[in-house]
Amino acid sequence: MTNTPDNQDLLVHGGQLLTPTGLETTDVLIIDGLVSKIAPGQSPPEGCGTIDASGQLVFPGLIDPQVHFREPGGEKKEDLASGSAAAIAGGITAFCEMPNTNPATTNPAALADKFARAKGRSRADYAFFLGASPENADQLGEWEGVPGCSGVKVFMGSSTGNLLVEDDATLERVLRSGTRRVTVHSEDNPRLSERYAALTQKHPTGAAIALHSDVRDIETAMRSSRRLLTLAEKTHRPVHLLHVSTEEELDLVRERDLGDLVTVEATPNHLFLTAPECYMEHGTWAQMNPPVREARHRDALRLALVEGPVTCIGSDHAPHTAEEKARSFPGAPSGIPGVQTTLALLLTAVRDGWLRYEDILRLSVQGPIKVYGIERRGPLTAGIEGNLVLINPDLEGPLRADWLLSRSPCNPFIGRELAGMPTVAVLRGQVVMRGGIPVGPARGKPLSFA
Ligand code: DOR
Repeated sequence: MTNTPDNQDLLVHGGQLLTPTGLETTDVLIIDGLVSKIAPGQSPPEGCGTIDASGQLVFPGLIDPQVHFREPGGEKKEDLASGSAAAIAGGITAFCEMPNTNPATTNPAALADKFARAKGRSRADYAFFLGASPENADQLGEWEGVPGCSGVKVFMGSSTGNLLVEDDATLERVLRSGTRRVTVHSEDNPRLSERYAALTQKHPTGAAIALHSDVRDIETAMRSSRRLLTLAEKTHRPVHLLHVSTEEELDLVRERDLGDLVTVEATPNHLFLTAPECYMEHGTWAQMNPPVREARHRDALRLALVEGPVTCIGSDHAPHTAEEKARSFPGAPSGIPGVQTTLALLLTAVRDGWLRYEDILRLSVQGPIKVYGIERRGPLTAGIEGNLVLINPDLEGPLRADWLLSRSPCNPFIGRELAGMPTVAVLRGQVVMRGGIPVGPARGKPLSFA
C-alpha cells in the first residue's frame, strides 16, 4: 500500500465493491479526493497511491447520524478527537453529533463553537444538530440553515442534559419554524415524570436495573410518537423518529402511513441486545433511553430493517464514565458507546443471515443521506467523494476492549464474537485508518446539505 501524506489520488484495486445491487469485483480510482472511475483492470496514473484490496470488501464510508461526543462540557466522557477516532477505527467516515452538550447547542454561536473545535481535530467528517427549546423554538427556522448543521433535534422526553420540549404547543412551534426534517427523541415526558416519582418513592435508595424498561415503558414511547405523528401531519413537517425501541411504534408508523413525512432510525443496541438478559449480564452498562426491551421488539426491528419502515441505523453513541455507570439505577446515566462497533455488528448480522451487505449500504449510507439531505456521498460512483472502507469478512473473534478508542469503557458488546472487521478507511483519497487504528492527521471536514 502506498499513499503520500497530501496525495488525494488513490487506486483501490481487486476488491469486491458494494453496490446497491450486490458485490462486484472492480477497481476504484480516486483523483483529487473524488471518485474518478470505477472499472476493473485499471493501472494507477503517475504518482497515484495504490491499495491491493484482493479478498476484501470495499464499502463507501458509513455515516453515523446519531452520536454524542460530549464536547464542550463533558470531555471526561468523550471529546471530538476521541469520538471521531473511534468512528474512523470502526469504518464510520462521517457523523452527525447531538446538541445535548454543556452548554447545549441551541444557537448559531454554539454551533460555530463546535465547528471551530472540530476543525483539525475530528478524524471523520462532521455535522452538528441544533437543540430545540421553548426559548429558541421560533428562531430555529432561520438557524437550521447554518452550513454544516444537520437540522433540529427535539427531546420530547428528558434524557442526558437539560434539553426538553414536552408539550404539544411548543412542539408545534418547533415544527412550524423551518422546513428541514426535525429529528426527535420520542418519549412522553409527563408520563416519565410521574413514573420516576413513583419509582423513587417506592425505592428511595435505588432500584433493580431491570426496572428501567418498566419505568420508560411502551406507553411512554407510544404516547409521544402518536403526538408527534399527529403534529407532523397537521404541520406537514417531516420528522425523524430516533432510536425506535418498540414493535408498537413500528406498527403505528405503518398504520398512519404518512410516507416520507416520517423516517425511522434503529440502533445496534436495540437490534443486538434484549431485556431482561442485557440487564442481568451488563447491569447499567445496558441502560439507555429509550430502553432495550424484550426479544419481540428486537425481532420486529430486525424485520423492519428489511421490510420497512426503518430508514437508517444510528449508533446513538452515548458515552459515560465507568464511575458514573457504576452508580445504581436510576442514578446511573443512560447511554451506551457504540460508534466503533456498529459496522462490525452489522457485518456479523450478515454472517448470521438476517441482513445483507446491500442492507448495510441502504441503512448506513443511503438512509442518512435521504433523511438529512447529505451531499456528495453515496454508493461509489464517479463524482462522489472518495470515502471508503475496506473490510476483511474473514476476520472473526471476540470484540476486544483494547481496540476501543472511546473514553467510555462501558461497551456491553466487549467479548461478543464478531465476524468481519474494517481494516482500512479512506477519506477523500487519503488513508486515515489501517488495521483498525487511525493514522495521520485529523482530516475531517464539515458535511454539506442540500
Ligand atoms: O441513553 C441515552 N443517552 N439516550 C439519549 O437520548 C441521550 C443519551 C446521552 O446523551 O447520554
